[in-house]
Amino acid sequence: KTIQHGKVTWESPSNIALIKYWGKKANQIPENPSISFTLNNCKTITTVTYSLKDSGTDFDFDVFLDGDKKDDFKPKIATFFKRVEGYFSFLKDFHFKIETSNTFPHSSGIASSASGMSALALCLLSIEQSLTKSEMLDEYFKKKASFIARLGSGSACRSIEGDLIVWGNNDIVNGSSDLYGVKYPFEVHENFKDYQDTILLVDKGEKQVSSTVGHNLMHNHPYAHSRFQQAHDNLQKLKPILESGDLIAFIDLIESEALTLHAMMMTSMPYFILMKPNTLEIINKIWTFRKVSGLPVGFTLDAGANVHVLYPKKDANAILEFIKHELVAYCENRQYICDQIGFGAQQI
Ligand code: PMV
Repeated sequence: KTIQHGKVTWESPSNIALIKYWGKKANQIPENPSISFTLNNCKTITTVTYSLKDSGTDFDFDVFLDGDKKDDFKPKIATFFKRVEGYFSFLKDFHFKIETSNTFPHSSGIASSASGMSALALCLLSIEQSLTKSEMLDEYFKKKASFIARLGSGSACRSIEGDLIVWGNNDIVNGSSDLYGVKYPFEVHENFKDYQDTILLVDKGEKQVSSTVGHNLMHNHPYAHSRFQQAHDNLQKLKPILESGDLIAFIDLIESEALTLHAMMMTSMPYFILMKPNTLEIINKIWTFRKVSGLPVGFTLDAGANVHVLYPKKDANAILEFIKHELVAYCENRQYICDQIGFGAQQI
């Protein structure tokens, strides 16, 4: 008997790139490898309710965020459905009710595309499993979920698992792929095991540049070639750093990656400055504090003004004090989010 309806729920985390993905080819193929920490607290929870409909020729779905119907989300999801149509035979046979919520404030300037698209991809995979009554091997399920998530938003392919995920073909990680993320396979020092990420919400406004526009600016970018090569080189440099636990070398590398991402945007045509004055205030405070205290605190940035403050758990007390006393004043409404490295998505 064919299944007529059902319901699945997944929660999936956000991730923060240490080596940045910026620039892509057709079909969401990255121009360079990237590596990220999967986060733990910043998550999207998505429930998809599916019911068989009279055969139609188009996708049929509704989207709700925190219970409110969101028609402005529909084009992005329709694009995603179109891209993954060939991998799921049932997409046009059902009506889908997609209900989603985030654990972090929306319009916080934190991209929900990685957590949102990975949660949706996982729901589609679970539905496929129910409909075909097949048992996929866990490993294959996760690989396909990452592959599908990538077609929603590139960085989403790094959110299925944790705690360190590599995406993009490279010579360092055996089995790495442009098509999906893989777990970082090498030894990682204790120092990085429960790394902390305190996200300072400097600017909660709409993104000035969508990532699609941003990636496209790397086409014909004067520094594109050397940037893509640098990402490979940095991945190679990161390996002994992660192995030895050298926190200072780690900070040097990730801060350089963050500033390079922004430098790419400043040197594209058209050009953009995505940092705000308070972003720079925070960066300078971090540098001064690091010098004076000797504590291993560093930062990374996404394609926006918010600052991710990264540090090992063992120094969390002193560094959180510093953040509260000296950095929070530069955040919009003093808002910040405490997160840490996490282990990936979960079915609920
Ligand atoms: O996944 P996208 O297409 O939104 O790209 C995100 C790119 C950065 O967040 C800026 C860097 C990264 O590797 O996550």
